[in-house]
Amino acid sequence: MVKHKTLGQVFTLTWIVNEILDLVGYNNDNILDKYILEPSSGDGVFLTEIVSRYIDVCLKQQIETNQIIERLEKYVYGVELDKVEFDKSIENTLKSDESYIYEV
Ligand SMILES: C[S@@+](CC[C@H](N)C(=O)[O-])C[C@H]1O[C@@H](n2cnc3c(N)ncnc32)[C@H](O)[C@@H]1O
Repeated sequence: MVKHKTLGQVFTLTWIVNEILDLVGYNNDNILDKYILEPSSGDGVFLTEIVSRYIDVCLKQQIETNQIIERLEKYVYGVELDKVEFDKSIENTLKSDESYIYEV
């Protein structure tokens, strides 16, 4: 199966992801209480940056680890049809802040 044709699997470059997140204002302390949905996550390039930004803001505000996890579960959502890309998106998102993940 040629998934870039059947499922539209063309992925966004990281620098473009960052431009988009900045443009929509997902880049400051106000993101803490914002819900966000990535409706077709692919390999997780948006989710990776979203989670990384979210954790950075939490750490700046000295929010505790268990609270950060609860908040991420509450506010950040992703959907992906293709199991292969879904698994990659989980793996890449967990890698998005390895120093933090090791603490958990
Ligand atoms: C154009 S890619 C974009 C991926 C990612 N958002 C990015 O910017 O790199 C679209 C993704 O949507 C997924 N997809 C296609 N149909 C879908 C559906 N009905 N529900 C959820 N994901 C879907 C594809 O498998 C593919 O990974």
